[in-house]
Amino acid sequence: MKLVIINGSPRKQGRTGIASRFISKQYGAELIDLSNSEIPLYSGEGEQYQLNVIQDFRKSIEEADGVILTSPEYHGSMSGALKNALDFLSSDQFTHKPVALLAVSGGGKGGINALNSMRTVGRSLYANVISKQLVLDPHCFDYENDGLTEEPALLVEALIEELKMYATAYAAMKK
Ligand SMILES: Cc1cc2nc3c(=O)[nH]c(=O)nc-3n(C[C@H](O)[C@H](O)[C@H](O)COP(=O)(O)O)c2cc1C
Repeated sequence: MKLVIINGSPRKQGRTGIASRFISKQYGAELIDLSNSEIPLYSGEGEQYQLNVIQDFRKSIEEADGVILTSPEYHGSMSGALKNALDFLSSDQFTHKPVALLAVSGGGKGGINALNSMRTVGRSLYANVISKQLVLDPHCFDYENDGLTEEPALLVEALIEELKMYATAYAAMKK
């Protein structure tokens, strides 16, 4: 089963990147890191689709049996970096594909708006955005070890297990 995780934070030192690397390592998911990517600002020009970075990006998502979208909440929404990257994709990559959502907030009950914006965009891409979703606050991180503390790690595990259940069904359906 192929899982792909997109780190939707543009910040190299971002917390969303910590969560994404943790999940990538723990669950063998391919990491597409938007803090370290040459995906350009979407212009709609045909030549952008000839760029290796865009072709590789589209292929990775196309081949995935499950996708994890992660984003910081910025001003009550997903990051611009993630939305820009998703604009290079379409239902060709996502139809019926299980997608799990994880938001990283500044605390104070943030995060739900990033989740909702990812869910709306996922639906527009014709993805199967699963019901379970997660917000991580600043206290959830083990900064020294580039990971998560124990309780959030268990919540992530439950999220990924649910995604894998749907991804297994999707992989069987694809055959
Ligand atoms: C431009 C900007 C806007 C933000 N807006 C929100 C917000 O609306 N709600 C919230 O909970 N946190 C907000 N935050 C805090 C971030 O969500 C939080 O710092 C998160 O850890 C950022 O993820 P990152 O470290 O991967 O960039 C904002 C941070 C920035 C830089």
